[in-house]
Amino acid sequence: MKIKNICCIGAGYVGGPTMSVLAIQNPDIKITVVDINEERIKAWNDKDLNGLPIYEPGLKEIVQKARGQNLFFSTDVEKAIDEAEMIFISVNTPTKTYGKGKGMAADLKYIELCARQIAKVATTDKIVIEKSTLPVRTAQAIKNILDNTGNGIKFQILSNPEFLAEGTAVQDLLNPDRVLIGGEESDEGKEAIDALVDIYASWIPRERILTTNVWSSELSKLVANAFLAQRVSSINAISELCEVTGADVDEVSRAIGMDSRIGPKFLKASVGFGGSCFQKDILNLVYIAKTYGLNEVADYWEQVIIMNDHQKNRFAENIVSTLYNTVSGKKITFLGWAFKKDTNDTRESAAIYVADALLNEQAEICVYDPKVSQERIYADLDYLNTRSPEENRRLVKVVKDPYEACQEAHAIAILTEWDEFKEYDWKRIFDSVIKPAFVFDGRKILNKTTLNKMGFEYYAIGS
Ligand code: NAD
Ligand code: UDX
Repeated sequence: MKIKNICCIGAGYVGGPTMSVLAIQNPDIKITVVDINEERIKAWNDKDLNGLPIYEPGLKEIVQKARGQNLFFSTDVEKAIDEAEMIFISVNTPTKTYGKGKGMAADLKYIELCARQIAKVATTDKIVIEKSTLPVRTAQAIKNILDNTGNGIKFQILSNPEFLAEGTAVQDLLNPDRVLIGGEESDEGKEAIDALVDIYASWIPRERILTTNVWSSELSKLVANAFLAQRVSSINAISELCEVTGADVDEVSRAIGMDSRIGPKFLKASVGFGGSCFQKDILNLVYIAKTYGLNEVADYWEQVIIMNDHQKNRFAENIVSTLYNTVSGKKITFLGWAFKKDTNDTRESAAIYVADALLNEQAEICVYDPKVSQERIYADLDYLNTRSPEENRRLVKVVKDPYEACQEAHAIAILTEWDEFKEYDWKRIFDSVIKPAFVFDGRKILNKTTLNKMGFEYYAIGS
């Protein structure tokens, strides 16, 4: 089966970049990315491309090439569903904030809405693809909805989780370690799998396209994120031990990472992992394990989150205790707000929680981030509901110049590992801050010896 028309529901951090790359690699397939968020679609259609809703290195160039050729962004969800032979569901699956499983389970209401809308609109057979990260066995629920409310047409459901990381999305999509496709073992299932394999095979070597049953594919996505986050929590646990023993966490990472069985990646100690995926997906895994009565399995993975929360808290506590046990009325400068470099995404960023803890101590925070907007920063703090929006705006200032941000600060905290922070004139910054001059490096990116020589008191995670 040769696919000619694809629809992707959800124009977010996954749907947008994934479909853009799919489009440039398959110029003969028409791809329409749809979303109910009109503002987001408008931004994807931004004429001069500077207003795209997502910042990712290399994305603008790809969108420029494909948009209007075979890539389209639209709010007409029903039309796109009707025309497509293959539909990717790439909507958000956040942690539930209400009812059963609150704070743990994945909220599948957007997924169900998509399934119902497909069932209502479709008049020809469709391959429906789970691109969103979902609890294992969700395909069963989607199938039930499609088969029972549909118009008698045939649906095949595939699981095709996305492994891109933000900040490197385009590179990850162009050159993935693997693509995973799970499908039914029937003849129709195999045919659907082949149709999707063919699309990826236009740029990815076949041996890197892995096919499995649906449940393995759904579960593998949760497990991959749990393993990655576990490595970060493991090294962060060791960072605390390094701080009290005189060991240096970067040296430990290097020493253990050179063991080919361990490997060097995902061993960088930090103020704590953030991002929309790790916490949500581990909580989801923990919830699934609990649902099956596997309490030891659930507790084992929950510890990854507990350690991460501890890391964020102790970073904030260290700032307070080092500043003579009070930050009340003191200006603390945050360099970085995004959850990692090279993205404007702030979901679950450690910066939000460190800021919240310091604001509870009546600190005044001044933020500089090269890609995150002032509105986003206030929205992140307001969402916590710890204090009123007015108070957040009174206590937190956002500025566009890093030197202005640091002026007259009692302490500077580095929350994101943006490369430009390493290039700053730190002598100039030293001259402009209140003495003693404190730097708390939550990413361990600056050079301790150089900063000490300038006169800074420098504290980094893990040393
Ligand atoms: P996102 O919030 O950026 O985008 C989701 C979009 O779906 C939103 O724009 C929303 O308006 C839209 N949407 C929701 N319901 C809709 C409906 N019924 N019809 C049309 N549009 C609808 O989310 P994201 O970061 O792109 O993540 C999407 C999924 O991919 C999640 O399941 C996530 O876990 C998974 N994932 C994310 C990443 C990542 O790095 N962000 C990586 C791998 C997997
Ligand atoms: C993650 C997965 O890597 C990706 O495969 C999945 O599809 C989505 O979730 P993402 O959250 O975009 O991607 O970024 P990632 O590079 O994994 O970083 C997550 C968090 O961990 C960031 O806050 C990052 O700063 C932190 N991190 C990562 C560390 O603190 N140390 C490390 O060594 C690696």
